[in-house]
Amino acid sequence: MGRSGHACSALGPLLALLLLSLGSAAAQKSSTWKTLSGNPPAVIAKGGFSGLFPDSSENAYAFAAGSQDSALWCDVRLTKDDLSICLPDIKMDNCTTISDVFPKGKNTYHVNGVSTTGWFSVDYDAAQLGNVTLTQPILSRTFRYDGVSLITPAEVVLTQYKAPAVWLNIQHDSFYSQFNLSMRTNILSLTKQYTVDYISSPEVSFLKGLVGRVGNKTKLVFRFLDEGIIEPSTNQTYGSILKNLTSIKTFASGILVPKTYISPVTADNYLKPPTSVVDDAHKAGLEIYAADFANDFALSYNYSYDPLTEYLSFIDNGAFSVDGVLTDFPITPQAAIGCYSNLNKTKKDQGAPLVISHNGASGDYPDCTDLAYQKAVTDGADVIDCAVQVTKDGIPICMSSIDLKDVTTVVTSQFASLAVVIEDIKPVPGVYTFNLTWEDITNNLKPVISNPWTKYKLSRNPRYVNAGNFMRLSDFLAFAKDKDLSGIMITVERATFMAEKLGFGVVDAVIKALDDSGYSKQTTQKVMIQSTNSSTLVKFKQEAKYNLVYMLDEDVKDAAPSSVADIKKFADAVSVSTTSIYPSTSNFLLNQTSHLVKTLQAAGLPVYAHVLMNEFISQPYDFFSDATAQINAFVQKGGGGGGVDGVITDFPATAHRYKLNSCMNLGNNAPYYMQPPQRGGLLEVMDKAAQPPAMSPMPFLTDSDVEEPALPPVSNTTPSAPSHAVSRIRTDVSILATLLMLCAYLLI
Ligand SMILES: *[C@@H]1O[C@H](CO)[C@@H](O)[C@H](O)[C@H]1NC(C)=O
Ligand SMILES: *[C@@H]1O[C@H](CO)[C@@H](O)[C@H](O)[C@H]1NC(C)=O
Ligand SMILES: *[C@@H]1O[C@H](CO)[C@@H](O)[C@H](O)[C@H]1NC(C)=O
Ligand SMILES: *[C@@H]1O[C@H](CO)[C@@H](O)[C@H](O)[C@H]1NC(C)=O
Ligand SMILES: *[C@@H]1O[C@H](CO)[C@@H](O)[C@H](O)[C@H]1NC(C)=O
Ligand SMILES: *[C@@H]1O[C@H](CO)[C@@H](O)[C@H](O)[C@H]1NC(C)=O
Ligand SMILES: *[C@@H]1O[C@H](CO)[C@@H](O)[C@H](O)[C@H]1NC(C)=O
Ligand SMILES: *[C@@H]1O[C@H](CO)[C@@H](O)[C@H](O)[C@H]1NC(C)=O
Ligand SMILES: *[C@@H]1O[C@H](CO)[C@@H](O)[C@H](O)[C@H]1NC(C)=O
Ligand SMILES: *[C@@H]1O[C@H](CO)[C@@H](O)[C@H](O)[C@H]1NC(C)=O
Ligand SMILES: *[C@@H]1O[C@H](CO)[C@@H](O)[C@H](O)[C@H]1NC(C)=O
Repeated sequence: MGRSGHACSALGPLLALLLLSLGSAAAQKSSTWKTLSGNPPAVIAKGGFSGLFPDSSENAYAFAAGSQDSALWCDVRLTKDDLSICLPDIKMDNCTTISDVFPKGKNTYHVNGVSTTGWFSVDYDAAQLGNVTLTQPILSRTFRYDGVSLITPAEVVLTQYKAPAVWLNIQHDSFYSQFNLSMRTNILSLTKQYTVDYISSPEVSFLKGLVGRVGNKTKLVFRFLDEGIIEPSTNQTYGSILKNLTSIKTFASGILVPKTYISPVTADNYLKPPTSVVDDAHKAGLEIYAADFANDFALSYNYSYDPLTEYLSFIDNGAFSVDGVLTDFPITPQAAIGCYSNLNKTKKDQGAPLVISHNGASGDYPDCTDLAYQKAVTDGADVIDCAVQVTKDGIPICMSSIDLKDVTTVVTSQFASLAVVIEDIKPVPGVYTFNLTWEDITNNLKPVISNPWTKYKLSRNPRYVNAGNFMRLSDFLAFAKDKDLSGIMITVERATFMAEKLGFGVVDAVIKALDDSGYSKQTTQKVMIQSTNSSTLVKFKQEAKYNLVYMLDEDVKDAAPSSVADIKKFADAVSVSTTSIYPSTSNFLLNQTSHLVKTLQAAGLPVYAHVLMNEFISQPYDFFSDATAQINAFVQKGGGGGGVDGVITDFPATAHRYKLNSCMNLGNNAPYYMQPPQRGGLLEVMDKAAQPPAMSPMPFLTDSDVEEPALPPVSNTTPSAPSHAVSRIRTDVSILATLLMLCAYLLI
């Protein structure tokens, strides 16, 4: 659509001539987009940017039209005194404060033959509605913009926001006629005064009544409701009307359908193959628009919580493109159209950011399983990772938690009784990897997919809940070695506990596994070792040459110069929390710049952000419930962006696609959807009273956070194990190392 929307429709005939004379150029253009016109699909902002601000509020419209350049949608309702206003629902109960202003205003009316109780706009005149404000009816969205915007008249949407196009949607014509109000007269009067680009309605008779009475700049669009619902003027279901698209062509130039008409889903939310409805509509000469897009609704599992993937499947699937999408989050389809369509997926990406998996593609498959690693590789991760734990028989394995209860079916196995409290680890009972042998684990347990957001009733792909096989470190290395990866990352935690309590030298075991697999000799893949404990990295540095990554496990806004000097002694890179880079409060970004990334980079330390996830719950609202927008913010260097060198993510596919985007190096010319969010911008536009309480500033990283005593020697206390001999042989090396470390420590 773009700003040229108006100009295009006004200059329609002229343009048509121009295009005819430019034959081949036009053909090229239409080969890019499989829309009816060959133009890019339109983005229609439902009630403005209603994913963030109350639907149909001034904020929502201004934000969608101004920065987002989207067509504005208004659901037109009528007041008692015949004013057209925009409200998302015929009942005002949930989307306004009407029940507070008029506590006794509830009424019962017939709406399309159904007795309906609530507050209705037809009971109030415009003056009475003067104290009624808009609210956010969807619970997962922020309530902090409620109660500030008054109800918006349709005329204001047509005149105020300079949107590229305006779309009026009209439902329940017959309901209003019960009150002697004429929707038709109202709409015709608006089209006489202003440019109305689209008028949609699910009522055949209403649209037929406009044919020939609105200018040919206005597109009439027939809206389909759910297939089983009966269209009031023909008494046919919408499903049966769909079978005769040529009849629709007699009174409309397009149709608007729920997205499930095009891409149906099963009852348990998996995608079925797409229907032929887009092709059918285009063959009938009808444009087809798809409705019901929102980044924060339960997307089909096939999209891995990635709304951009969903849009691309409607506009860039190789077979067809819809002519427009109706959405609560216009920024995501704008980006999909502007920067992520027609990508050359076989092209080598542009380097930064380094995409590091987090327990493999753990958003899609159980952590650290063969399937999670295979998916990470096919999804384009640069680095795949293994979090090392140890079994009772001394075998290093990849497992995201030392407690098998977190990531396996152990609680329903015969090993459930091994649950114990180990204060060094946590105060509640766990069943620990070091109390089961590798055989016990592989023969009796199944992996369990991680589910960080169960509290919010969001679960990761249920079909893969127990999918895949566990991996030993040696299996992981054998798998990774011949893949097209820039490296592997091995995470080592609790080296102290393992040495003292289990008699297991994890550092030596990891080095031995790398030696045995041939990794130490091969040079194409970088071996990264990550730990939150500096003494573990110090020991690795003493014994081998790897790329050492220090993970900061606390949120800090900057690092004292002396702490950076310390880190430089044992680390080659640093991974830091997302909050350290984008400080936030109550899920809103604060107007605070974190200097951490710049400070570390200035010292020659690349910085990786951990952990990114696609689920919208994991992000501040400023990222628009869009994992790609979030990655962009972390990666962009200018304009207050995070400027990180890499991302550690549960969903490598999303980060890899980001690297292929076609708007990467545009600098200041980048479209708005490729610019990082303005820190504190959403708090700024919030009513002072609604702002979350101030936060105490995040601390600095200091020397004492970084420095640790050296790793203790590996104790002799533990049982049998093939690799036990190895740890004993290495013991004297590690005592030596401890002594060296102590000297170094005293010299600092
Ligand atoms: C209003 O919101 C409540 C709670 O979300 C919901 O149960 C109810 O169906 C909504 N009513 C309308 C008219 O949307
Ligand atoms: C709006 O509220 C003010 C203050 O409470 C009150 O004086 C005024 O009468 C109200 N207006 C309407 C139309 O209810
Ligand atoms: C609508 O108009 C008719 C005829 O003018 C009148 O009889 C009827 O009472 C009116 N209904 C309402 C709800 O105002
Ligand atoms: C649109 O309407 C104008 C004036 O009625 C007419 O001259 C023009 O040919 C129409 N354009 C199209 C494409 O139908
Ligand atoms: C639709 O059905 C209703 C009730 O069955 C009937 O009163 C009405 O006349 C029908 N309308 C049409 C257009 O067939
Ligand atoms: C489709 O609708 C057209 C126009 O209303 C009508 O002439 C035709 O018979 C219908 N076709 C079918 C298969 O119902
Ligand atoms: C969606 O995912 C399910 C489960 O993985 C798969 O069976 C199905 O084929 C997928 N649907 C599409 C359209 O790819
Ligand atoms: C995609 O990129 C690859 C590798 O750079 C190149 O060989 C190929 O020609 C590109 N394909 C297209 C359609 O541009
Ligand atoms: C689990 O392992 C720890 C450390 O080796 C040992 O002390 C403890 O007895 C084991 N518990 C069980 C139930 O085997
Ligand atoms: C952030 O703070 C700076 C200075 O404190 C101020 O100039 C800027 O306008 C603020 N930005 C926002 C979005 O609040
Ligand atoms: C890091 O390791 C050292 C040496 O084993 C240990 O003393 C220290 O407690 C560890 N730090 C943390 C935070 O676990």
